[in-house]
Amino acid sequence: MTNEPSTVARTVRPTAYGTPEVLEIAQTPVPHPAADGVVVQVRAAGVNPIDWKLYSGAFHAVADKNKDSAGVAGTLPRLGLECAGVVTAIGAEVTGVQVGEEVIVYPVTGAYADYVTAPVTSLIPKPADLGWHEAGSLMLAGTTATHALHTTGVGQGDTVLIHGGSGGVGLMAVQLASILDATVIATAAERNHELLRGLSAIPVSYGRGLLDRVRAAAPGGVTASIDCAGSDEALETSLELVADRQRIASITGTDRRVTAGIKIIGNGPGQDAGTEIRHAARAGLAARAGAGELRVLIDTSYPLPEAALAHQAGITGHAPGKLVLIP
Ligand SMILES: NC(=O)c1ccc[n+]([C@@H]2O[C@H](COP(=O)([O-])OP(=O)(O)OC[C@H]3O[C@@H](n4cnc5c(N)ncnc54)[C@H](OP(=O)(O)O)[C@@H]3O)[C@@H](O)[C@H]2O)c1
Repeated sequence: MTNEPSTVARTVRPTAYGTPEVLEIAQTPVPHPAADGVVVQVRAAGVNPIDWKLYSGAFHAVADKNKDSAGVAGTLPRLGLECAGVVTAIGAEVTGVQVGEEVIVYPVTGAYADYVTAPVTSLIPKPADLGWHEAGSLMLAGTTATHALHTTGVGQGDTVLIHGGSGGVGLMAVQLASILDATVIATAAERNHELLRGLSAIPVSYGRGLLDRVRAAAPGGVTASIDCAGSDEALETSLELVADRQRIASITGTDRRVTAGIKIIGNGPGQDAGTEIRHAARAGLAARAGAGELRVLIDTSYPLPEAALAHQAGITGHAPGKLVLIP
């Protein structure tokens, strides 16, 4: 055991567009901080569906290596949009942050690594009582759920229908809607209903007959909806049940959403990124998670070199809770 700082670090990166087999672990120099940034040694990096979508070609159709179908060269993405870790180096212009501080880092790129660089604006102190796995996988789902609830104005007196309630974002939306005193109806596979009941939601199975089941679960009507599933069935059910289309938010789905006149949130073209709302939400999410008021469920953690296995699990479906990479 030596205290000498390492100069070489591992980074998980795609070697081409494709399926998780394209991921490799590369040896890279430990990064230096920008003048207004820091270097963080990653303790846990959250895995999110966007991670595999980024190199799948879903956003950048690719026929030939890094070129898309129009022959335009694309840049392979850096993976890992959130993590938690320990500050190991500080840029010359940075004040108010110390080496050794335990932080949550979001937003960030390249967190699938031993070390990541980040602007100080991306740092949130890690609550002492929040574990590394939870701290590293709280923010992307938590800020998305907060944005969705904010844009639909969910609060006391509402009955909100959350499609995909057992997923990463769904579990956050279910809990945060409940904290806002709304009645929550959440769709999920039957095996996840007990979990949702434990989070104060009324679980409903998705699939044929969904509309009738939701009507039966909400005799007083549904006033808002958040779609974390993206199926036609979810969209149609929300459109049928929620009178005000500005109280339907979708975080995923097809172009059919555009003509439906609902709120589409995210980073895609024409979507509401909600940058300010999401940034502002981070401290409150950390505080609630640290105080145990907001549960960050963890399904499985994988050693960093097994990122491809984590992505495979994410693509094929897994138990509720986040997938996490541990360097
Ligand atoms: N716009 C944004 O800002 C934003 C941010 C984060 C994520 N996203 C996107 O939102 C989606 C969800 O993200 P996530 O992190 O929550 O994913 P996730 O953890 O993989 O959860 C997906 C959930 O969908 C449920 N599901 C599968 N098929 C369904 C169906 N037909 N009807 C209803 N639910 C179904 C599954 O529940 P069961 O296991 O119970 O079947 C699963 O728990 C992804 O497409 C992601 O890329 C968008």
